[in-house]
Amino acid sequence: MKYRTIGTDPANRREVSVLSLGAMLFGTATDEATSYAILDRYVEAGGTFIDTSDNYAFWENGGQGGESEELLGRWRRSRGIGDEIVIATKLGARPLAPGTSYTDNPEGLSAKVIRESSERSRDRLGLDKLDVLYAHIEDTKTPLQETVEGFAELVAEGTVGLLGASNHWIWRVERARNIAAAAGLPGYELLQYHHTYLRRRTDRPSPLSADGDLGATSGDLLSYVRADPSLTLVAYSPLLRGAYTRPDKPIDEAVRLPGYETRLTALHEVATELGATLNQVVLAWLICGDIPVIPLIGASSPAQLEESLGAVDIELTPDQLAKLDAAG
Ligand SMILES: NC(=O)c1ccc[n+]([C@@H]2O[C@H](COP(=O)([O-])OP(=O)(O)OC[C@H]3O[C@@H](n4cnc5c(N)ncnc54)[C@H](OP(=O)(O)O)[C@@H]3O)[C@@H](O)[C@H]2O)c1
Repeated sequence: MKYRTIGTDPANRREVSVLSLGAMLFGTATDEATSYAILDRYVEAGGTFIDTSDNYAFWENGGQGGESEELLGRWRRSRGIGDEIVIATKLGARPLAPGTSYTDNPEGLSAKVIRESSERSRDRLGLDKLDVLYAHIEDTKTPLQETVEGFAELVAEGTVGLLGASNHWIWRVERARNIAAAAGLPGYELLQYHHTYLRRRTDRPSPLSADGDLGATSGDLLSYVRADPSLTLVAYSPLLRGAYTRPDKPIDEAVRLPGYETRLTALHEVATELGATLNQVVLAWLICGDIPVIPLIGASSPAQLEESLGAVDIELTPDQLAKLDAAG
């Protein structure tokens, strides 16, 4: 395994593995025994960065989520896991009632929700302190100042370490960070977005914003991370949920931008050169690039995880990186 530092505050920054494991479907679509087997293998391979949310995975059973955090809490207890494993969770997108969603009925990012939901996450996970807490989606109804102060209070109290934002317009992240910096408060340092080798359209309206797709990585986001060494980009769904390799999972329209076939050809060529799989080259490209990216993978079997773990040791040559970067 290889490791990377997240965060800047000496009291809260952490070394984490360059490959993060998503627990989104653990406890719902992925049963307990399989989830434990995946988690155990991840830790055995040196993995130390696990991702969840207070709303995972409400859409699987029409509830409000929490099953993933609960499963992680049981797993931590049964394995005697301490703070050597960094668990990141999120709040803000939990539906307020069963049968609803984050699009029509989200909990949002008020100071009250930040306090109460983070306490419930700590309970479910069995943790005194959340190492990383993200704002899962935007809340345009709550003043940013309230959200910034709500998160900062928890850091000051020691119940949260690092802060992050996911699926936000970059200008809103920057505005929130400015409010925090001006007040001497901690700001978002982890940015979690969909990012993979194929580029994704950013201009299509999404359920979260009529102005475009705010989960997609944009040039703005990449330039922001490149310019500020305190930031880390956590790249969710890097394997396109299996679509790089599986006929049963067609490549989504949103990533079929002009030139995507050229990009796939470059991926195939580099994979053949290395004797690696397409998934492994995608992950290696994210890990070896010149801005700090942590791919956040999912797996529904230990074999899938094994393939992803194989990416960590791949060192792409400057020529291979240049070829992959330039394609498409
Ligand atoms: N912030 C956000 O809004 C957000 C959104 C989405 C996800 N996330 C986070 O990101 C994590 C990962 O997301 P994701 O599951 O979409 O990521 P992903 O790594 O792109 O997709 C994982 C899925 O791809 C398939 N897969 C994985 N390895 C494979 C292999 N070697 N061969 C064939 N198929 C393979 C499996 O699908 P099958 O299970 O169908 O076999 C697996 O469940 C989540 O757990 C969550 O923590 C965050």
